[in-house]
Amino acid sequence: MAKEKTVYSCGECGGTSSKWLGQCPHCKAWNTLVETVAETIAPTKNRFAALARTAEVQALADIEAADVERTPTGLDELDRVLGGGIVEGGVVLIGGDPGIGKSTLLLQALDNLQRAGGGVSSVAGPPQDGERPPSSAAQGQPASGGRAPHPVRARGSVLYVTGEESGAQVALRARRLGLEGSRVQVLAEIQLEKILATLEAQQPAVAVIDSIQTVYSDQLTSAPGSVAQVRECAAHLTRAAKASGTCIVLVGHVTKEGALAGPRVLEHMVDTVLYFEGDTHSSFRLIRAIKNRFGAVNEIGVFAMTEKGLKGVSNPSAIFLSQHAEPVPGSCVMVTLEGTRPLLVEIQALVDSGGPSPRRLSVGLDRDRLAMLLAVLHRHAGVACMDQDVFVNAVGGVRISEPAADLAVLLSITSSLRGKPLPKGFIAFGEVGLAGEVRPAPRGQDRLKEAAKLGFSVAIVPKANAPKKAIEGLTIHPVERVEEAIQALRGLD
Ligand code: TYD
Ligand code: MG
Repeated sequence: MAKEKTVYSCGECGGTSSKWLGQCPHCKAWNTLVETVAETIAPTKNRFAALARTAEVQALADIEAADVERTPTGLDELDRVLGGGIVEGGVVLIGGDPGIGKSTLLLQALDNLQRAGGGVSSVAGPPQDGERPPSSAAQGQPASGGRAPHPVRARGSVLYVTGEESGAQVALRARRLGLEGSRVQVLAEIQLEKILATLEAQQPAVAVIDSIQTVYSDQLTSAPGSVAQVRECAAHLTRAAKASGTCIVLVGHVTKEGALAGPRVLEHMVDTVLYFEGDTHSSFRLIRAIKNRFGAVNEIGVFAMTEKGLKGVSNPSAIFLSQHAEPVPGSCVMVTLEGTRPLLVEIQALVDSGGPSPRRLSVGLDRDRLAMLLAVLHRHAGVACMDQDVFVNAVGGVRISEPAADLAVLLSITSSLRGKPLPKGFIAFGEVGLAGEVRPAPRGQDRLKEAAKLGFSVAIVPKANAPKKAIEGLTIHPVERVEEAIQALRGLD
C-alpha cells in the first residue's frame, strides 16, 4: 500500500521540512514541527478560471490609476489606520490578544456601515429569505441623500460570520453596545465551503470572519486552527474577496510570542494587517497598522473600552501619562511619534540592588536595547548599574519600538538610581548610539510643540532637534552626548 506522503510543518511560521527536525529551518523556533499529511487540492477548473478572467496584460502607462475609493467605517480611529476606510475587495487581517475587543470593534464598525448604507437597496445579489432591505428611517440615520451610492455602500448588507460565539451571544453583545434593531446579518458557521457559498449568494459589502482560526475546510484533513487550515481558508476567502468585491475582515489570534498564529503565511496574503493591542487592565486600546496596501503604516488609532463598547479617543496624548501629584524618581516623559501623530508617553524605571546576576526587564520597550543603553550609560557617562536590577516600563500598555525612546529610558534609569525625581514638566527624547552620541529623532519640532501644548516646560533633546525659533513656554537643553544629558540633568536639580 502506498504510504501517504507526509511533511513536517512549523506551527509558528508554516514553513515545511521533509523530515522532522528539532528546530524549524525557516524561523528557527524550537519544537514546532508537527507531522501533517501533505495537502494537495487538485486544481479544479474553477479555481483558476476566476483568476484567468482578470489576467490581462497591459502597459503600465495604459492602466488607469484611479485612486481606490474608501468607505469610512464611521469609527474615525479605525478609519485612520485603514487609510480612510475600507476598500472594495480589500482583505484586512486584524490580530490581537483574546478579550482585547476585536469582536466588539468589528461589530460596531459593521453596524455603522450598515446604517450608513441604509436606504440604498442591495444592487448585487438577490435578497435572501428573511433579509429585509435596510430602512434608514427606522434607524434615525441620514441616508446618503440624493448622491450616487458608494460602491461599497451600494450593496447594503454586511455579514458577520461568527465561529467563536453563537448568534445569541453576538446578539447579546449588540444589545450591550446599544445596537438594538441592527440589521447586521449574522452567520454562525465554521465550515469554509458553507461560508463561501453564503458570501457568493449574499454578496455583502463587508464580511467579518471571526475568527480565521475557527474556520476549517472539508478538503483538508488537518485540525481547525492548524497552519495548513488557516492558510488554505484565508487563501480561499481572499480569492473570494477579489472576485466578488466584498471587503473581508479576518480576525486572527495572537500567539504568546505576539505573532499572529499561522502568521506570516497570512500577513503576505492580505492587503492590510492591523494589530489591536493594549493592557487589558487599562481601558485604552491601540490599533496599529503593520502593513497597508491602501495607506500608511505605523498609524495608530486609540480607543477607550467603555460600558457601551469602544469609543474613539481623538486626543490621546495625555492618556499614557500616569498621574503624579509631585514628580517621582524614575519617571520620564517622552514624545513618541506614531504615524502622523505625536504621543506623550511616560517611561518608568526602577533600579534596585540585585543578586549575583542582576535582572534587566522591560515592558513595552526592547530588552536588548535596554542592555545596550545600560552599557552606554556606564561607559560614557560613568553611571554604573552592574549590580542592580533594572526594570523599565512604558505606561499604559503602549509598545514603543522607535529608538527615540533611548534618552528617556536613560534619564529615568539615572533618576531612579539617584532617587531624585526629574523636574516638573520635563520631557526628553532622542536616539542614543553606542559611541555615546545623541542622535536626532524624526520630526522633532512636532514632538516639542505637542509637549508645549500639554504644558511641559523643560526638555532635553538632541542638538539637531533644537528649534531655531523658541517655542513658547518650553526651555530647551540641546545635547550631543549622553554625558552632556546627564550633566544637563544635574544642572536642573
Ligand atoms: P471582545 O470584543 O469579545 O474581545 P475579542 O473578540 O478580542 O476576544 O471583548 C471582550 C472584552 O471587552 C470583555 O472583557 C468585556 C469587554 N467589553 C466592555 O468592557 N464593554 C463592552 O461594551 C463590551 C461589548 C465588551
Ligand atoms: Mg472575539
